[in-house]
Amino acid sequence: MTVHARNELQNLPDYQEGKPFEMACAEKGISAVTRLCFNENPMGMSPLAKQAIVDMAGRADRYPDTFIYELREKIAAKERKRGLAAVTRENVFVSNGSDEMINLLGKTFLSCGDEAIIADPTFPQFETTIISMGAKAIKVPVDGAFQHDLAAMQKAITAKTKMIFLCNPNNPTGTYLGKEAVSAFLEQVPDNILVVMDVAYCEYAQEEPDYDQGDDYVLKQKNVIVLRTFSKIYSLAGLRIGYAIACPELLAQMQKVREPFNVNILAQAAAAAALDDIDHVVCTLANNEQGKTYLYGAFAEMGLAYVPTAANFVLVRIGVDSKAAEKALLALGIAVKAGAPYGLEGYLRVTIGKRSDNEKFIAALKQVLGK
Ligand SMILES: Cc1ncc(COP(=O)(O)O)c(C=O)c1O
Repeated sequence: MTVHARNELQNLPDYQEGKPFEMACAEKGISAVTRLCFNENPMGMSPLAKQAIVDMAGRADRYPDTFIYELREKIAAKERKRGLAAVTRENVFVSNGSDEMINLLGKTFLSCGDEAIIADPTFPQFETTIISMGAKAIKVPVDGAFQHDLAAMQKAITAKTKMIFLCNPNNPTGTYLGKEAVSAFLEQVPDNILVVMDVAYCEYAQEEPDYDQGDDYVLKQKNVIVLRTFSKIYSLAGLRIGYAIACPELLAQMQKVREPFNVNILAQAAAAAALDDIDHVVCTLANNEQGKTYLYGAFAEMGLAYVPTAANFVLVRIGVDSKAAEKALLALGIAVKAGAPYGLEGYLRVTIGKRSDNEKFIAALKQVLGK
């Protein structure tokens, strides 16, 4: 007799076994791959973070601090310095990447029959979590500018709505929401609905004059939570660490479902060190700006439309089968993300790499598109 999983899980796709990325590429005869498919930081890890990992390696025989006390203190101090004056350790919750945080949000706040509103397309983990809890994902298409359609999201609110996800900047579109739009939206959202602002790429969006990373509401409104990650600008994707800022009452609920040792000691140490490495962040931002300008120029030259980005990736319209283009580019050693799984047929999402990565990508794209 088969042991049945919870009924809710029947609504999720079956697990597909795979191989490590590099191994799968090697088996296809592709030895050197330029990874422009995961929105990672092409500048690599901060040297300070790397040193912190080395220094802490000998302590990996011990459990990590369950309270993640020092890192939470440090994050709070950093947030205060950045302008969120009232943040304390009690406003900070650290997780095994934002993915875990999204999961914990689901476990804490969603029940069968609830509804949660998301943009379409957006970061897929939102929908997976919603469905896994037996709730219903209400998907609101982005507007013609690939932006969250906040008016339509507001109209989608019902008595069953429990959560709304705003992804700012949005993955995979790279578009961002400004302060006026977000504050007008939040005024209309009843305070029994949790608004999750995932700002994984916020550091890249700082240059946008009206970019909203939730600072104005996160401590004032008890129904707003902001998610940040160390995977993107801080370049620690492999260590799995992210954090949320919110009011302590909200976070206390989530603590009930957190594993006691959810964040390993190397991740805690590396994240603390990465926060100190201002140079690493500055270099990363400079590279991203240069890469963006280069890609925009190359796309314009090739006659390809693109969505201006506030993040470290660009959505570009190639006008042909995106899965086939993804495969053809991979055969040339360039890994990018097809738009099709996001409902964006004819588009590719490419991470902004180092100059040489971007040049390789453009040369390969020209070959694939016959331009
Ligand atoms: C919008 C968004 N949120 C969260 C994540 C996941 O972050 P983490 O690596 O911290 O789980 C990603 C990763 O691509 C993302 O694009």
